[in-house]
Amino acid sequence: MRHEKDWYKDQVIYQIYPRSFKDGNGDGIGDLKGMAEKLDYLKELGVTAVWMSPVYASPNVDNGYDISDYRQIMEEFGTMEDWERFRDGAHERGIAIIMDLVLNHSSDRHQWFRESKKSRNNPFRDYYIWRDPAPDGGAPNGWLSVFGGSAWEYVEERGQYYLHFFAKEQPDLNWDNDETREGIFDIIRFWNEKGVDGYRVDAISYLDKGLDGRADMSEAFGTSSCANLEGTHRHIKDMVKKTIKPDNLMTVGEVIIRNDQDARDYTSAASGEFDMAIAFVPPIVEIKTWSPERFKREVEENYECLKEDGWWARFLSNHDKPRQVSLYGDDKRYWKESAKMLGCYLHTLPGTPFVYQGEELGMTNYGLPSIEDYDDIDTKNYYHTMIQEGAAKEEALAQAQSVSRDNARTPMQWDESPNAGFSPSRPWLPVNPNYTQINARQQMEDPDSIFQFYQKLIVLRKENPVMVHGDFRLCGPKEGPVIAYTRSLGEETWLAVHNFSDREIWFEHENVSEDSLVIISNYKDPKLKEGAVQLRPYETLVIRISLQSN
Ligand code: GLC
Ligand code: CA
Repeated sequence: MRHEKDWYKDQVIYQIYPRSFKDGNGDGIGDLKGMAEKLDYLKELGVTAVWMSPVYASPNVDNGYDISDYRQIMEEFGTMEDWERFRDGAHERGIAIIMDLVLNHSSDRHQWFRESKKSRNNPFRDYYIWRDPAPDGGAPNGWLSVFGGSAWEYVEERGQYYLHFFAKEQPDLNWDNDETREGIFDIIRFWNEKGVDGYRVDAISYLDKGLDGRADMSEAFGTSSCANLEGTHRHIKDMVKKTIKPDNLMTVGEVIIRNDQDARDYTSAASGEFDMAIAFVPPIVEIKTWSPERFKREVEENYECLKEDGWWARFLSNHDKPRQVSLYGDDKRYWKESAKMLGCYLHTLPGTPFVYQGEELGMTNYGLPSIEDYDDIDTKNYYHTMIQEGAAKEEALAQAQSVSRDNARTPMQWDESPNAGFSPSRPWLPVNPNYTQINARQQMEDPDSIFQFYQKLIVLRKENPVMVHGDFRLCGPKEGPVIAYTRSLGEETWLAVHNFSDREIWFEHENVSEDSLVIISNYKDPKLKEGAVQLRPYETLVIRISLQSN
């Protein structure tokens, strides 16, 4: 595909979690063949790019985020030919391919690590981060891994510990070693040559570990204190310059953003790193801290911060978060209204929208009945830690159910046939029983469905540059559950209003009038008056306003 300058700005990117998308060979696990079968579905939805979570060879300790061979396809997902068929089918339909690059760590089964752990003087000895034990024989320091427990693991053969920020089967790569970096850059070039259009770069904020005392990881979620150190930015710039810029590929980095400076460092054109950033927030933190007020504040701040020289990745869901309608909306009484409202919010903000599989159907959280039903390593560790700390089983399970990443990973709900049409066999993770009411087949036929609402949003975005390039201005009160803003480009001004609550609320804006043109809304008859609109539960609407009367 051709990659014009800034091409990523007009995209609508759809994230596929391959394990849960569609099973093409009947073994209960989603795969590339299944993905290819659903390309027409994606075309019909209207998305212009697909980001697939990792499909490389992996022992699946962290579902593909532990890679044992970056040049091979995971057996369960198919072969390189299957990948190429998917690529060709996508490109024929004008859909770009974004691969997930996991470069902070590899699997402990990767050949580099298998060699590295053998001795202190083998050719791969410095590919990972090894340290001598502390004087008492324990770990070199008290750092904790993101998934719980120590971030260090002892290896007999070397008499040393290696560092792992995630599971112990995910040893961190040593980016300060020239050969490691060259090896990594060759992997990227390999995929460039295969015709990939861009990358989502996983957990990339910690390449420089700051082990010399600049960082501290001794608290749970302490990763932010060792994020974004000088060496991390140096390594990213080097990688982007050598492997990404020559082909003008798209990049989105999954990073830690603590302030405006971090956002600019990662995503301004001037700094030469990524085109956009996905800011990582642990699900448990997001569940506890989100609010419409916080959304308003953050959207305004990061708009101001990047409007001159940067761009935004917009997402409400991914494979690491609970389902958006369950988290930010109401997945019962106002299920359809709130799912549409969230979609409209996502697509009308400045930036490139990322839609996570099933979001376009309003798929909801499924609290699996017992801890044995869970697959996610993070959920299991979390549950067992709670039990160890004295929590009752029911309490630990309830917590795990609300934060589990498996909420987003239950199989895609295609139709009302057994296993939701995902697979003829028992799926690797249970299907949400609500698939008989929530599924793609029904929604594709129903003009009032969430799916068709997403279709409309995507068409609007393709046809109206104001949605992509318009200036952004927050309006209305900073407090309260209504998020409203204008987007303006030339003569055109659109006002978007979203009610993040189940209450009826009047929203006032001097340029609203009874006959303002309604671009899109989730209720049939928006209640527009002179200077105000009466919002119903989870109502969303976009209207064209005229600023002339000002
Ligand atoms: C990222 C991924 C997550 C994975 C982790 C370790 O946060 O999104 O799924 O577990 O990195 O690779
Ligand atoms: Ca399969």
